[in-house]
Amino acid sequence: MQRFADRTALVTGAASGIGQATAQRLAAEGARLALADVNEEGLATTRRACEAHGADVATSLVDVSDESAVSEWVTASAASSGIDLVCNVAGILQFEDFRSTTLADFERIIGVNLTGTFLVCREAMPHLLEREGNIVNITSTAALAGHPWTSSYSASKGGVLALTLTLAVEFGKLGVRTNAVAPGSIETPIQGAFKIPEGGDPKLIHRIMPLDRMRGPEHIAAAVAYLGSDDAAHVNGEVLRVDGGTLA
Ligand SMILES: NC(=O)c1ccc[n+]([C@@H]2O[C@H](COP(=O)([O-])OP(=O)(O)OC[C@H]3O[C@@H](n4cnc5c(N)ncnc54)[C@H](O)[C@@H]3O)[C@@H](O)[C@H]2O)c1
Repeated sequence: MQRFADRTALVTGAASGIGQATAQRLAAEGARLALADVNEEGLATTRRACEAHGADVATSLVDVSDESAVSEWVTASAASSGIDLVCNVAGILQFEDFRSTTLADFERIIGVNLTGTFLVCREAMPHLLEREGNIVNITSTAALAGHPWTSSYSASKGGVLALTLTLAVEFGKLGVRTNAVAPGSIETPIQGAFKIPEGGDPKLIHRIMPLDRMRGPEHIAAAVAYLGSDDAAHVNGEVLRVDGGTLA
């Protein structure tokens, strides 16, 4: 399948896990790529993997919570080859008892996960409108049901979900679709953040455990590629849960 031949995709969080797998999947399907992350070494690894598929790849060190850095990256990417698809994947996770969550923790997580998604969508929208492109945001099962000890993260992902639905109705008639994928139980480095805070009730763990087992980030990449492609031309404002049935 070459669903992204002659199309340019922007992917944030492309240095690791789901972002890296998404970049590779889009490269395998013919996309030109503009990849962003704060991890230079990981970006270089992803670039090499995408180039092995013959893809034209640009990488940029961008903190998605930094408005001017995002604006510069999106503007430069659009000037170079236009924008057909935006995948907002960058994210951070922290486990903490709600009572000891500091304002700085909360703002840091909202800053990357929600503000970052907002900034990239806002900067890219005029370019997406020119080409009837589309957006795929990564939310989480944490936005769909209570996950203990992740109040900042869950709130940020709930915001990403609401932002997705808003953009879907605001821009759907103008030709730009916006959808989300809600992963759960995907084996990536972010899982290293897991811990039960001191005094946390271990009985709550079942709410965040896989139904059967963890699976790799390529399963999310496949869902992103579907939503970002013309196969999903009639899909707008959808949240595709890819979690092995954990929330079924
Ligand atoms: N792994 C799961 O089970 C799971 C479940 C639900 C949602 N998610 C979401 O999937 C997305 C990808 O996570 P992952 O599992 O691949 O984890 P990961 O840690 O492997 O990847 C996250 C990437 O985001 C990058 N990043 C962090 N802060 C950034 C910033 N300020 N600017 C730019 N890039 C930044 C990291 O450097 C890293 O490359 C995240 O949004 C995460 O919340 C993952």
